[in-house]
Amino acid sequence: MNKITITRPDDWHLHLRDGDVLPDLVKHTARQFSRALIMPNLRPPVTTVAQAKSYQTRIHEAAQVAGYPQFQALMTLYLTDKTLPSEIENAKENGIVGVKLYPAGATTNSDAGVTNLQHCDLAIAKMAELGIPLLVHGEVTHASIDLFDREAVFIDEVLDPLRKRHPRLRVVFEHITTKQAVDYVSQANTQGGEIGATITAHHLLYNRNAIFIGGIRPHYYCLPVLKREEHRQALLDAATSDSKRFFLGTDSAPHAQHLKEHACGCAGCFTAAQALELYAQAFASVGKLQQLESFAAFNGADFYGLPRNEGTVTIEKISQKIPLSYSMGSDLLVPLNAGESLDWSILG
Ligand code: NCD
Ligand code: ZN
Repeated sequence: MNKITITRPDDWHLHLRDGDVLPDLVKHTARQFSRALIMPNLRPPVTTVAQAKSYQTRIHEAAQVAGYPQFQALMTLYLTDKTLPSEIENAKENGIVGVKLYPAGATTNSDAGVTNLQHCDLAIAKMAELGIPLLVHGEVTHASIDLFDREAVFIDEVLDPLRKRHPRLRVVFEHITTKQAVDYVSQANTQGGEIGATITAHHLLYNRNAIFIGGIRPHYYCLPVLKREEHRQALLDAATSDSKRFFLGTDSAPHAQHLKEHACGCAGCFTAAQALELYAQAFASVGKLQQLESFAAFNGADFYGLPRNEGTVTIEKISQKIPLSYSMGSDLLVPLNAGESLDWSILG
């Protein structure tokens, strides 16, 4: 297969930051995707519906400036120990699509995250009642747990007990990175509380060697961190399978070049500029390009109960060279795979 035309896709996990950098960032996503679900880990975090609505307006203005007036930003709230059930009701009434759980300290800008899930039990019960999904960054944070085991331990210690306490809670296990997460999501029993999972392009394409081979490579460092090859294989099997529980979420997470190439570099891979082509590369590597449409354009929309997009996008086997950097306000932004070539390009 040298060419594929699919329904216009959506990105169900995206970091866009805020302010002057927005037009530089949103254009990459809007070129390929009709909609993106925007993560709320700004400083300060997006904890109220009012903040989410004004952030959405700024994104839509930036998309307009960049020449993509039709792009739709779907918004999330950042769950804290203090989130009230009334704010969840407010979220439902105002079209907020999900609420994001960051265990405190798990990742970039997560200091205001949840210290103990018991603190937000009433808010979570309200989400279960109203059908608003909880989007989870699935890693425990105790220093005693090895970084590479944090997702698997989260399943047993946090996620499964949470789903048992709230059987109707709808959950998206974000940016899964392990075989254990694939198995958990594939086999989960649902009693109204469906579970889905997003998978990034970089976790489909790389294992943890990418961070270390030939020197330390900060642009491959993200959280949850890349894992062993057996986990990458499990993710690739899941993404290209017929299961409707797995869908596209890039977790594209831009950080200025000088903050990535640093003694204590930030976590996050910037993949938005070639997102669909990177997924095409991964799917084509196992001869499953025909499965890309359901993963990229159907499963997520169906999970969130939103209409599938109109229109199409065509990806063709034409090699392209990934630029060394992009501009992000007054800074430079280095994409994953900078300077390397990719087999696939989007037409038009
Ligand atoms: C994300 C970021 O930079 O906002 N970083 C990352 O490594 N993925 C946060 C996140 O999704 O964990
Ligand atoms: Zn993320």
